[in-house]
Order: sequence, then C-alpha cells, then structure tokens
Amino acid sequence: MSKHTETAGQYPVIPLRTEVQLPGHVGPLEIGREASVRAIEAATRDDNLIIIIPQKNPAVRDPGQKDLHEVGVRAEIVQVVKHSPGRFTTVMRFLERVHIDALVATEPFLVASVSKLASTTEATPDALASTTTKVRDYLVAVVTDAQAKESRDKDGKEKEPRGELTRAQVQAIVDPDKLVDAAAPYLELERDELTSLLIETDTMKRLERIIPSLERQATVLRLKADIGAELEGESSRTHRERVLRDRMRQIQEELGEQDDNAEIDDLRKKIEDSKMSDEVRAVAKKQLSRMSQMASSSPEYNIARTYVENLLEIPWNVFTDDRIDVSAARAILEAEHSGLEKVKRRILEFLAVRKLAPNKHGPILLLVGPPGVGKTSLGKSIASSLGRKYVRISLGGVRDEAEVRGHRRTYIGALPGRIISGLKKAGSMNPVFVLDEIDKLAADMRGDPAAAMLEVLDPEQNKDFVDHYVEVPVDLSKVMFICTANQLDTISQPLLDRMEVVELSGYTSVEKLAIAKNHLLPKQLGEHGIGKDQLEVTDEVLTEIIHSYTREAGVRNLEREIAAVCRGAAVKVAEGAETVGLSLKQLEELLGPPRYVSDIAERKPEVGVITGLAWTPVGGDIMFIECRIYPGKGEVKLTGQMGDVMKESAQAAMSWTRSNATRLGIDHAKIASSDVHIHLPQGGIKKDGPSAGVALTCAVVSVFTNRPIRNDVAITGEIDLRGNALPIGGLKEKILAAHRAGIKIVFIPFRNEKDILDIPDEVKSQLDIRTMKKIDDALAVALGDAPAPPEPEPAIPPPTAPSRSNVGERLPS
Ligand SMILES: Nc1ncnc2c1ncn2[C@@H]1O[C@H](COP(=O)(O)OP(=O)(O)O)[C@@H](O)[C@H]1O
Ligand SMILES: [Mg+2]
Repeated sequence: MSKHTETAGQYPVIPLRTEVQLPGHVGPLEIGREASVRAIEAATRDDNLIIIIPQKNPAVRDPGQKDLHEVGVRAEIVQVVKHSPGRFTTVMRFLERVHIDALVATEPFLVASVSKLASTTEATPDALASTTTKVRDYLVAVVTDAQAKESRDKDGKEKEPRGELTRAQVQAIVDPDKLVDAAAPYLELERDELTSLLIETDTMKRLERIIPSLERQATVLRLKADIGAELEGESSRTHRERVLRDRMRQIQEELGEQDDNAEIDDLRKKIEDSKMSDEVRAVAKKQLSRMSQMASSSPEYNIARTYVENLLEIPWNVFTDDRIDVSAARAILEAEHSGLEKVKRRILEFLAVRKLAPNKHGPILLLVGPPGVGKTSLGKSIASSLGRKYVRISLGGVRDEAEVRGHRRTYIGALPGRIISGLKKAGSMNPVFVLDEIDKLAADMRGDPAAAMLEVLDPEQNKDFVDHYVEVPVDLSKVMFICTANQLDTISQPLLDRMEVVELSGYTSVEKLAIAKNHLLPKQLGEHGIGKDQLEVTDEVLTEIIHSYTREAGVRNLEREIAAVCRGAAVKVAEGAETVGLSLKQLEELLGPPRYVSDIAERKPEVGVITGLAWTPVGGDIMFIECRIYPGKGEVKLTGQMGDVMKESAQAAMSWTRSNATRLGIDHAKIASSDVHIHLPQGGIKKDGPSAGVALTCAVVSVFTNRPIRNDVAITGEIDLRGNALPIGGLKEKILAAHRAGIKIVFIPFRNEKDILDIPDEVKSQLDIRTMKKIDDALAVALGDAPAPPEPEPAIPPPTAPSRSNVGERLPS
C-alpha cells in the first residue's frame, strides 16, 4: 500500500535555505546541495515522496535537527530535470503539512520520521466557521479579479500574484487550513510570515493571520479593476495619467508601500511644525501636493523634495536672544584680542547704540586693514559678545551673482546662494554674519555680485531678500552684517555708503609679542596637545621669530611659525620629554636660517638710491628707488612697472631739479648732456601713486650732485613744481613698515603731522619722525654733504632688493 494515503512514516528530507513552501500547489524547486540531490535520487527510486523543511537560519550549510523547523511539507516529486550532475530542478506537488518527530539519519542524506499535524485550535466551531467564510469570500474576490485583470492586459508586464485557482475551486475548499494554504501564494508574504503560517498549528490563528493581507489585496485588485473601467473610452493622456496616479497612491496606501507618502507625510509634518510664515507654508505645501502626484523616481520629484527640504532648513522665525551687556561684551573683546583699543571702543559704541535703539538699522561695520590683524576673528568675538550665532562667508573671488543669490531651480543641481546657506548654517535669523573680503568681490559677465550684496546690505530692501532658488522672500533685517576688507578702493561706492569704516592697522613688534604670548602661543599649544608648562618659549625667542622669520603687518605668518615650533615640540613631547625649552639655536633648527635680515643694516649710503615708503592692501612696505645718469641727450627713462601717476611724479622731480639746478649746484650743461634712468626694483609688481615724489626728487638731485643718500632715511610725500611736500595717505602703515625694516629717520609731509598721533609710542621712541614743508627739508638731511668718492666703472651693482613677505598687487600711495 502506498504511503500516499498514510501520513506517518520515514522520508528523505530536503532542507530549504530561503524558500518556504506551503501545501496546496504544484511548483518548481531547485536542488543544489549534495545531500539534497542524494535525497531526491533516493525518493525517486522509492515512491517519489519527500519532506521539505525550511531552515531556521539560511546560513547553515549542513543543518541538523535543531536547525530545522518542527513542521514541514510532504511533497511528491512530479518531475526531475538534471542540469548537470550536481544540479536539479524538480517539479513538486506540495501535499500537506506534517509534524517532524525526529531526524532518523543525517548521512548520506537527511531522513525524518513524521506524523500527521493535528490542529490545536481553541476557537468555537461557530467562530471558526464564520472566519473561514470570511477568508473564503476574500479569496474568491482576489482570485476572480486576478483572472479578470490577467485576461485584460495580455502583454502581462505587471507582476501578478502567482496563484492559479479559479473561483469555483476556491468555493469548493472546505478545510480552513487548506484555505489558508491556497490563499498564501496570492498574498506576496515575507519569509517570516510564511514560516509562521507553516508552523502554526492553531487553525483559527492561521486564518486570522492572513485576513489583513487578504483584505488589502482584495482592495488593491478592485481599485486596479476600477481604473480599467474609468479609463474606458477616455483618450486624454493627462486624464489617464491623473487617474492612474490617483489610483497608484491609493494602492500604495493599501499595500502599506508608503515610502514616498511616508516621506511626504514626514515633510508635511515638518512643515506644520516649522515656524515659517503662512505664505511660505503655502508654497511648501503646494510643492508637496505636486510631489504626491509624481513618481518618486522622477527628477521633478527630487527637485521638489530638495526644495522643500531647503525651505525647512531655513531657520524661519528662530531668533536667539541678544545679550547686549556692554561690559560683558567689553570683557569678551578684551579677553580675545590684545591691543586694538580704538577698534574695540568703536565696536562697543556700536553695540551700545544697538542696545539703546534695537530697531534702528545701524550702519554696517566694515573692518578694513591688512591681513592677519584680526578682522575676521573680531567678527567672531562680536558674535560671542552678543550671544549670537556666527557665520562667515568669504566673498574673495566671488564672480557670479548666483553665488550670492542662488541659482534658479530650473538648473540641474541648483542651490540657494551663500546668504541663505549661511542662515541655514547659523540656525537663526539674527546671526552675526561676517562677509569676509568684500573688497575682493569681482564682477564679470555672470552678473554683478556686488549688486546682489547691495540688496543684502540695504536695510530698505533686505527685509524681503529673494534668493533665486528659494523664491519666497527671506527677512535679513535682523542679521547683523559685519564686512571685512583689505582696502577700500575696490569696493563700489554704493556699498561703501552703507558701511561704517573701522580701520585696523598693522602691529608693532611689541604688540605682536603680546599677541603671540597671550593668544597665538596658547592657542597653538592647545591645538598641538602640548601642556602650558611643557613648552617654554621666552620673549626673546618670540621676538626673534617676529623679526627674523616674519615680515608682515599682521600676525598670520607669526601664527604659522609658532605652529611650526609647536609641531617640533610635539614630537619631543611625544618621544617622552617632560618639558621642552627653546633656545635661539634650537629655534634655528626648527625654523631654518633666519628668513629676513634688516634691509637697511646691510646697506651703505649710496648715490642715487633712496628708500621710499608704499602702502599696499597687505600693509605698508619699504620701496627702493634707483637713479642713474649717463651721457645722452637729456632724456628720461622710467622702468619698474610704474603707473602713470608715478611717472608724472618722476617728471615733476626732473622739472623741479632743472629749475633749481643753480641753487643746488648742478651744472645745466650736465643735465642737458645726460640721460636719466629711474628704476624701481621688484619690477613684477605694479607701483603707482604720487607719494614717492619727494623721494624721486632726492634721488635725482643725488645723482646730479654726486652726493650719497643716507641708508637709514626713508621719505614719503607728494611734490608740486614749487617744491612743496604734499600730504599722503596710509601714513601709519608706512611708518610701521619703516620701523620693521630698521629705518632710523622718516620724513613725512608737514600736513600729515596729525597722523603721528596714531603711531604707537613704541615706534615713536625708536623712529625719528620728521615733518617737511619743502623738498629742501628732506634734502638737507638725506643727502650727505661730503662729495662722494669717484664713481667706479662700470656702474655699481644695484642694492639687494628687499625681501618682502607681503607685497601686494599695486603700491598706491
Ligand atoms: N589683536 C589680536 N589679539 C589676539 N589675536 C589676534 C589679534 N589680531 C589677530 N589675532 C589672531 O591672528 C590670527 C589672524 O587673524 P584674522 O582674524 O584671520 O585676520 P584678518 O581677518 O584680519 O586677516 C587669528 O588667529 C587671530 O585670532
Ligand atoms: Mg580675515
């Protein structure tokens, strides 16, 4: 008698790694494992019956009893297709669930002894019957609709449930467990769900477990059918699309495949929670409703989502409380910056006015000065002294208006501009916003970023600042803007008009020493993880760094060199040194030979070579002017990248010398028979401005009278043809540069006398600053009386060009 009819018995077993099979259908099964192949071979030699048991853990290669579930499916092998010796595809008829009593063999394949699986349900027969009816009704609906749909789209592109029952067949199923098994293929269940259906012995629970999915599936199929009906006779493409999208949404909701909808819901909730204005909220919601009509994979959907996310990231109506406590602000400014008394006072006044008139749009502070004097870091201190958030955007080299104001959303990869990004970064609508290097905004054909900046900074307009990307107005009026620049010349006048200029100048070496000691060194020690008492750097060493390794108005390179010293010390500390001292000699080992020597100390008085002073955006600098004459026809040659204004100064110097020749003891014939060549070394750098006039004149007089010019004198001043010394700009930076270079005497125009007040005492005590009304005042001191020794031939080599750390593009006066 065949075992077909009696369940209990011993059968070969095939463990399934990933699949779970329920009884009630015929289907393929791939066989790969050696033991399983042998089990199939054994079964086909016998009665074709086999037990299929899912593994608890798919990763186990050779499962034993503990790795297998206690319930399996008895199946009949209908067909075996051999691909290769070790691989079969079989077709199985999955008969019924069985209880696995024990594994009776594991070699050469698994053999199990099984028994009939009895239902254990505690439900009343009535309850069981009514639930069974319910499930049957749903399944009938699903089966019917699935077939209707199948017959409709013949191309069968859509993935249909894999069941193949007819309505009549379903209606004929009486056994509730068989009903569950029959329904399972239609429900696209996960492995876990299938497993629990397989091993559940309580019939009622099995029924109840599939009801939600059945319900969903029934609705989805009905909706799909409705679409067909709705679209019948409807030719408009857009209408079709709308109907389909609508249905798709409903279907997704039904299936719980709500990823996009979940995303949209999530965004909707965030929009509700955000403090954006109603106007903005409406815009955001409109995007959401557009999104809900689009496929989430479409580019438009992503553009809309990114846009909504960007809107949400703007800190609408988020404000930090201002702490305008002037004395606290003073304490913070004092603690974070040495010196800068005048600047700090200006900032405190500014903050005080803010406190007294919080709603008045104060002017915008513009901190101007050479690099490394603390402009940017002051901006940060202002933020912390107000208790506001701080953001900095660098405008250096910004050429494109879109960088300020954003790209229109139609561009691929469009983003908001830097102003909006800054707000997002700050997380509040009233941060301190440092617009760094506003003098470096450049304009070209991609629009004028300065015009956009103007709108940002204009209190009349910035209440409704519109970024091209964001499109809705953003209120910038509570932002405190602070701008920084190296120079004013390149800032457009309308922008300048909105700003209140606060000038910062370079530091003297004493100020630098204080900054290094109190700020730069502690900061760098911290950054290198070196304890305060692990590295001793004396004032002497710091001063040596300042003088021999840097030459700059600010302290940027100084900070860099100190960092280099700390790096060196960090190595020693890491190697176990308790404390590291630093002698001048060790300094040289760490930083290399001194980089700067005094330009002046190396030089001797010379005929026709004079030291002028220049102002540049990166600070003051000394500038050598060379003059030579040789037999010729009274021509003048000017070289070394002189600008037009400076060339005119040179002409004026020549004219004044000619017209005063007799008085100066110069032979007119000599002037007429000589060509004059004036040259400014460092030819790569453009130099311009009128402030070299007096110096040029001294150089010309020096060559015609053959009197040497003192090497420790520097001169700055414009001239007119009557020999007056006219005032110049940038005096403080020039004087500081002269001091740095080791000059002893500086001549400045009489009318610049008032600027001497600004010069630090330290410099005044070491530098002899003299005023001049006329060129003669300078000539009397700068030109030595003694006739020079006869000039050696050929010409003396030019003086060594000064090494400069910080020369700018142009040297205007
Ligand atoms: N007066 C000062 N006191 C303390 N640190 C200073 C001072 N001036 C500049 N610094 C420091 O020097 C470095 C360079 O300053 P930074 O603000 O970048 O200069 P800028 O923006 O003017 O070019 C920063 O680490 C800054 O903190
Ligand atoms: Mg800066």
